[in-house]
Amino acid sequence: MSAGEVQRGLEDVVALESQICFIDGAQGRLIYHGYDIRELAEHSTFEEVAYLLWYGRLPTTHQLDELRKRLASLRALPDPVVRILHETPPSANAMDVLRTAVSALALFEPAETQPGASSIGGAQRLTAVLPTILGHFHRGRLGLSPPDPSPDLSHAAWILNAIRGTEASELEVKGMDVALILHADHELNASTFAARVTASTLSDLYSAVTSAIGTLKGPLHGGANERVMELLDEIGTPPRAEEVVKSKLSRHERIMGFGHRVYKVEDPRATILREWSRRIGQAKGNLKFYDLLRSVEQVVHTEKGLYPNVDLYSGSVYTLLGIPRDLFTPLFASSRVVGWTAHVLEEYQDLRLIRPTARYVGPTDLAYVPLEKRG
Ligand code: SDX
Repeated sequence: MSAGEVQRGLEDVVALESQICFIDGAQGRLIYHGYDIRELAEHSTFEEVAYLLWYGRLPTTHQLDELRKRLASLRALPDPVVRILHETPPSANAMDVLRTAVSALALFEPAETQPGASSIGGAQRLTAVLPTILGHFHRGRLGLSPPDPSPDLSHAAWILNAIRGTEASELEVKGMDVALILHADHELNASTFAARVTASTLSDLYSAVTSAIGTLKGPLHGGANERVMELLDEIGTPPRAEEVVKSKLSRHERIMGFGHRVYKVEDPRATILREWSRRIGQAKGNLKFYDLLRSVEQVVHTEKGLYPNVDLYSGSVYTLLGIPRDLFTPLFASSRVVGWTAHVLEEYQDLRLIRPTARYVGPTDLAYVPLEKRG
């Protein structure tokens, strides 16, 4: 790249070196610290993947057990934050709620919020508590009792319990666990980059995660899975997919859940989530979403040659798991907080203030005109 050449959106700019995540966009491969996402989705758990992302290696049985117990012990919220959540209007945007609650939490956990405070303890605390925030907000807006942070539940089972308040089947827990694994990290996506920029100033972990939540809220990044479900509502039945999608494309509208800045073929997470959308749909006797999505896929690929990304099927899996639509992106955040915090810790270990430049194209040397002479 020649000096001063502008790369809009920092496309293809290599900003730093990292050992956490590798995306092979041409081959459609995603790797966390050397392990292929397909292996991890098949054989691992969210807690084990969190350990891998934070420590750079798979845990022993004892280490994994310790982490599970640690996360379960960190699920409760301080009373003042619970009060804020219960004062929050039920119509509030759930990502605003998450961002606000993390900011409020920082007021009560000073140890983790000192500039450069970079303990894995803070990462574990935020990972453990995000589902509690969602549970309190969602159940509060329904007038239901707050979630009981059951220590014997796995993280995936806890999320389902915190939001639904009901026991989850083994298939549902595994489906949620796979979704959490798939969303845990994705190299320098916009929200992770925002977290690293914040950390690179030696700001603290809670501030970095607050930056990341605000960034993930954007529909070009985290909000797409909700809009995919809105598209399915609009289409209604598979035969209408072609007509609806083509009319959107003719108006140069983006079809949510398709395309990616890095993947030039199918996002491997979409492949896995497509199968889980089918599996859970079949188990629940409801393949409506799966069938609709398959028909949308065919039209978009034929018309634009685009491939599905992680957001195309995640919304159908969450819907089948009984998660309300406006909590889809907060769920994405509840998983990606592991990646955000892993990258923040890596930034602290090899700190370099992130500060690119802009090429100035405005005027120069203008003469200052006093206010009274400006008419
Ligand atoms: C995530 O970065 C990450 O890793 C993110 C993520 C993660 O795990 O963190 O993977 C999660 O953000 C997934 C993406 C979720 N967002 C969406 O599904 C929104 C819809 N997708 C698009 O907005 C788009 O594909 C992006 C934003 C994802 C990527 O856009 P780029 O790389 O900037 O590509 P582009 O906008 O330059 O588009 C290139 C061409 C254009 O055609 P032309 O105008 O040149 O003819 O492809 C077209 C675009 O119009 N295009 C689409 C499209 N995506 C790209 N056309 C219709 N629908 C789409 N979805």
